[in-house]
Amino acid sequence: MPKVTFIIDGDAQTVEFEHGQLDYSHHGKPESLLDIAKNLDVPLEHACGGSCACTTCHVIIREGAQNLSEMEEDEADRLDTAWDLTTHSRLGCQAVVKGDIVCELPMYTRNYVQEGGGIQLGKSDRKREGA
Ligand code: FES
Repeated sequence: MPKVTFIIDGDAQTVEFEHGQLDYSHHGKPESLLDIAKNLDVPLEHACGGSCACTTCHVIIREGAQNLSEMEEDEADRLDTAWDLTTHSRLGCQAVVKGDIVCELPMYTRNYVQEGGGIQLGKSDRKREGA
């Protein structure tokens, strides 16, 4: 059974699931990190409902990146607008889990949402050199 560990505020919460056995939560892709989190009561934000239109489900993969589905272009484009983007970043609603994963929620996501900061929809704040 794949094991997924979510690190939230420095605390690790590990859940296990069996492929094909989760009730689809209708948030994100089936068996995505977000779908798993919703099924197993892990508080992963999902302001757009898992449709790749915000970045509140941003997670940083610490282990097991090879156990996730390949990143598609819409996820890459959306991630480009995330604060605190790292080379290990994924969107929880788009990354489908195929094996063990350890991921961490970036600090700003939770603070931003908890403070009622609203959501980022469709706006890019990327700064490209020479652009
Ligand atoms: S929940 Fe909005 S992009 Fe994943």
